[in-house]
Amino acid sequence: MEALRGVDRASLRQIQLAGRTLAFDRSRGGSCVACHILGESTPEFPGNVGPDLSTLGATRDPQMMFAYTYDARSFFPLSIMPPWGTHGLYTTEELVDIVAFLASLKTPMKFKDELDDPTKRIVPKETRDNLDDFENPGMDVVPEGKKLFAARGPKNKSCLDCHAAPEQAFKTWAARMPRYEPRLQKVLGVEEFVTRHAMATTGDAHLMESEQNIALSVYLKFLANGAVIDVDVASPEAKAAAERGRALTQRKIGQLNFACTDCHERAANRWIRGQWLTGMRGQVGHFPTWRNGRGEVWDLRKRFQWCNVAIRANELPPDAPEYGDLELYLTSLSNGLTLSVPGIRN
Ligand code: HEC
Ligand code: HEC
Ligand code: HEC
Repeated sequence: MEALRGVDRASLRQIQLAGRTLAFDRSRGGSCVACHILGESTPEFPGNVGPDLSTLGATRDPQMMFAYTYDARSFFPLSIMPPWGTHGLYTTEELVDIVAFLASLKTPMKFKDELDDPTKRIVPKETRDNLDDFENPGMDVVPEGKKLFAARGPKNKSCLDCHAAPEQAFKTWAARMPRYEPRLQKVLGVEEFVTRHAMATTGDAHLMESEQNIALSVYLKFLANGAVIDVDVASPEAKAAAERGRALTQRKIGQLNFACTDCHERAANRWIRGQWLTGMRGQVGHFPTWRNGRGEVWDLRKRFQWCNVAIRANELPPDAPEYGDLELYLTSLSNGLTLSVPGIRN
């Protein structure tokens, strides 16, 4: 912060403005507004994962602000805040500009529009009916899956040839998935089961995340709608897999240094910018789910990949054993809830 000493007023004003632009630059990991309110010039829909910083300049000295922003782990080892300096999201010079802006913040925030205030904003509640094909475009996938179930593959066999009454046979099957599969020594979800079983029986290559795979997976889960989610995490191998999954949810990864639990447990029921963060129970029973904003149906593994990429971590292939462990753990948190597929989300 030596850099700011002896700077004349006009230049300081320039530096503060540059810092403000940087603090509001969404291309930098969502920027500060993703989690903080920062005074009257705050853009719309600030988040509230972190404290309101609108009067920070009146209470904290710039040296502390710089150190905290550079790497909050020197204050709190498990801070939710990304280590902006250490992980190279901003250069030291840029952080000096940002701190000059923070130091200028001295007036409590007054929102012009109440809905901009994250403590007053209306919490989104999903009221659309999953199974109403008028409301949920994802429902179009169900008949596609049913058609594929009856279609003959390269081996001149269809699923229907061997499973003549799927409505009866698969009433609860999908509600017990994923499960630990000893033959594969990994957790098997519905989607990977479809890939492997189709290859072995009809000869179809319904690769994970392909349209056909998603359609058949949606169909199989649809048949179990209303069934109580009941995955096994009691037998020794399943228990170990779920435990590995739990550990994964707590591990901080990626350039932004986030664990799943940072967003979905510690910051659950708060706003990250304009998005309301949900807790982990109840997160999976509607997958695969229609994504309004994307115009397509996503399975859970795709959602995992997206949550990985959003924090600038590497996504894994959909059949990665780690995603299996994660899926088993998350699904076990929803044990007792009911399956309702396809879901609908924004
Ligand atoms: C993902 C959410 C998140 C983002 C994005 C974020 N912060 Fe934070 N920030 C927090 C949280 C949570 C705290 C409080 C405790 C902690 O460290 O976990 C915090 C605390 C702070 C503090 C200390 C406040 C005090 O009262 O001493 C400063 C300074 C700060 N943030 C600056 C920034 C700046 C500057 C940016 C943008 C470059 C930023 N934050 C982006 C979550 C975030
Ligand atoms: C050639 C006969 C045959 C074909 C074709 C076939 N299956 Fe199967 N399927 C079986 C047999 C046998 C089992 C039970 C043994 C096992 O778990 O591997 C089974 C098991 C299943 C199960 C799991 C039931 C359980 O209790 O674990 C599902 C779901 C399923 N099949 C769906 C499908 C789908 C979807 C297709 C089409 C892609 C398909 N099957 C094609 C013979 C077939
Ligand atoms: C930086 C914050 C952040 C992190 C870290 C994060 N997510 Fe998410 N996740 C979101 C947001 C935002 C959404 C969309 C809003 C919501 O449903 O919570 C979301 C949605 C989801 C959903 C869908 C919820 C639904 O009801 O449709 C699942 C499942 C999920 N995340 C799992 C994970 C897993 C597993 C991890 C760790 C590998 C993870 N997330 C890490 C921000 C995050």
